[in-house]
Amino acid sequence: MKSLTEKRPRPITDWDALYRQGTPPWDGGAPHGELVRALKEHPFPKGASVLELGCGTGSDAIYLAQRRFEVTAVDCSPIALERARLRAEYHDALLRFVLDDVFEFAPTCGQFDVVYDCGFYHYIRMTKLGPYLDMLWHLTRPGSWFFCLAGRTGERATGGPPQVSEDEIRLELGRLFEFVHLRRTALESPIRPQGFRAWSCLMRRPVPAR
Ligand SMILES: C[S@@+](CC[C@H](N)C(=O)[O-])C[C@H]1O[C@@H](n2cnc3c(N)ncnc32)[C@H](O)[C@@H]1O
Repeated sequence: MKSLTEKRPRPITDWDALYRQGTPPWDGGAPHGELVRALKEHPFPKGASVLELGCGTGSDAIYLAQRRFEVTAVDCSPIALERARLRAEYHDALLRFVLDDVFEFAPTCGQFDVVYDCGFYHYIRMTKLGPYLDMLWHLTRPGSWFFCLAGRTGERATGGPPQVSEDEIRLELGRLFEFVHLRRTALESPIRPQGFRAWSCLMRRPVPAR
C-alpha cells in the first residue's frame, strides 16, 4: 500500500529562481488582508515576539513590526530577503531578517509568543511534516500563538497554492495546538483579482492545568 507521502506531489524547491523570474503569484506586495483582520480581532500583547517562517519579500513581517511587535522574519531566498530589506527600509520599519533555512535556524533561536506562517506549511507538509511539527513545538511555549494561512481544497483555478483540506489541518496542526478559529478566506495574488481559496488558522498552544 502506498503511503500518503508517496502520493503527494514534490514541492518546488528553487525559491530563489521563482523570485528571480519576477513577482511570484503569492506576492501581493502588501500585508495579507486576513492577517490584518485577525490582528484586529486578536491583538497580541504589545511587544510580543513574533517569528515569521518563510517571510518572502516581507510585507507581512513589516506590517507586524509597524504594530510594535518584536519581529524576526526568516527566509531561505537571498533575492526575497533583499527585496524584504529594501521594503523595510522604505517603510522605516525595524525588524530582524534572517537568511537561513528555518530548520537550521529554529534549534538555536529560542521560543516566540507568536509564530506566523503564510504559505510555508502547505508546501513543507508534503515532504517534511514531522520535522515541521517538531520545529513548531520547539519554537513555541505553552500559551504561544500559531497563525497560519494555507491554500484550501476546492480551488479549481491553476497557479494557486497547494491545497489542504480541513481534515488534514485538524489532524496535522491539531496535534500541537488548540483551534481558536479555522475559517475560509482568500489569499491575495497578483495573478487573480479574487485571490485563491485559503484557510485562516489561528491556534494556541495549550497551557497545562496546575
Ligand atoms: C509561498 S512563499 C510565501 C512567502 C510569504 N510568506 C508570502 O506570503 O508572500 C514561501 C516562502 O518560504 C520560503 N522557504 C521555503 N522553504 C524554506 C526554508 N526551508 N527555510 C526558509 N524559508 C523557506 C521561500 O523562499 C518563500 O519565500
